[in-house]
Amino acid sequence: MNTRIVTIARHLVDQEKNFPEATGEFTSLMWDLTIAFKIISKEVNRAGLAQYLGLTGEENVHGEKLQKLDVFAHETIFRAMDHGGHLCVMASEEDPGIIAIPSKFKKGKYVLLYDPLDGSSNIDVNVSIGSIFSILRKRTSGPDGTLDDCLQPGTEQVAAGYVVYGSSTMLVYTTCQGVNGFTLDPEIGEFLLSHPHIKTPEYGSIYSINEGYSAEWDSGTQQYIHSLKGQKSPQGKAYSMRYIGSLVADFHRNLLQGGIFLYPASCKDPTKPKPKLRLLYEANPLSLIVEQAGGRSSTGAQRILEIVPTSLHQRVPLVLGSAGDVLTYEKFFQGAASGIARSA
Ligand code: AHG
Ligand code: MN
Ligand code: MN
Repeated sequence: MNTRIVTIARHLVDQEKNFPEATGEFTSLMWDLTIAFKIISKEVNRAGLAQYLGLTGEENVHGEKLQKLDVFAHETIFRAMDHGGHLCVMASEEDPGIIAIPSKFKKGKYVLLYDPLDGSSNIDVNVSIGSIFSILRKRTSGPDGTLDDCLQPGTEQVAAGYVVYGSSTMLVYTTCQGVNGFTLDPEIGEFLLSHPHIKTPEYGSIYSINEGYSAEWDSGTQQYIHSLKGQKSPQGKAYSMRYIGSLVADFHRNLLQGGIFLYPASCKDPTKPKPKLRLLYEANPLSLIVEQAGGRSSTGAQRILEIVPTSLHQRVPLVLGSAGDVLTYEKFFQGAASGIARSA
């Protein structure tokens, strides 16, 4: 049980000490982000009362109906981050293109990619939702960030994290020195270290997938899911299916307890597999976190973090969580793809 009272500010400063060349820019970037998350948390917790329920009537670049809280979260993160002087460019799920830093503000050496509100379909029914962020270093010359600065493989991330707005608000992040979780104490407005050095179990007893789409899955995924049913996991427990429909909430539970989250591509048209989740601000940040916690993340065929992005909102199949479970899945997926059916 962690007894020390460690705020996220203290933790950020302590982690900065491990980088002798650190200028403190990254630390203040992260601090600004935590302010945005506190503001969003307050609104999420009163969404039922505020005017945020319901749809804006608009759609985002993906043709998804925009919930008012999506817009609020998107704008809150932008307004908290546009003037700090640490970023050269941003990109958000809720904006079709890259987001330039206003010319009146100093530009910095970092890139911020974010999903301001994940699990929006759950907003109106009071089910946990989240925010996800990924931080890269600028790699092009000149002060202004470009699309090229955003299209870097996940291995180039310098930090990644998510917030889950649930029964409590938790922020989990990594700067590639392990994974740590902080719980917001709304009385004092501080994120306090509650889950130091998170490690995910090698095997879990939970699988998370939208079974409603099982007819659209590739045969490897179908064989893998079938192989779990009625079986005991290496943890010695029968497998349970848990699916909230908010990636962050499903991921967070599996990270702490062990398990595997799967969102395979729809193979309704076998010639054109259609994945749903976005690489830059959903798959990559959560993949960095799960690998830093000892887990694994892949498309079934390829390590997520090694995918070289070609567009801002590109989608990928995502299977991540306990390393042993993901490895087992990959054998089913690749076996079926090469024509070798596997038994349970
Ligand atoms: P977002 O709200 O940012 O668009 O993300 C929704 C995603 C993800 O949170 C979740 O895992 C998935 O959509 C659920 O999709 P289905 O409803 O198709 O299962
Ligand atoms: Mn999302
Ligand atoms: Mn979203």
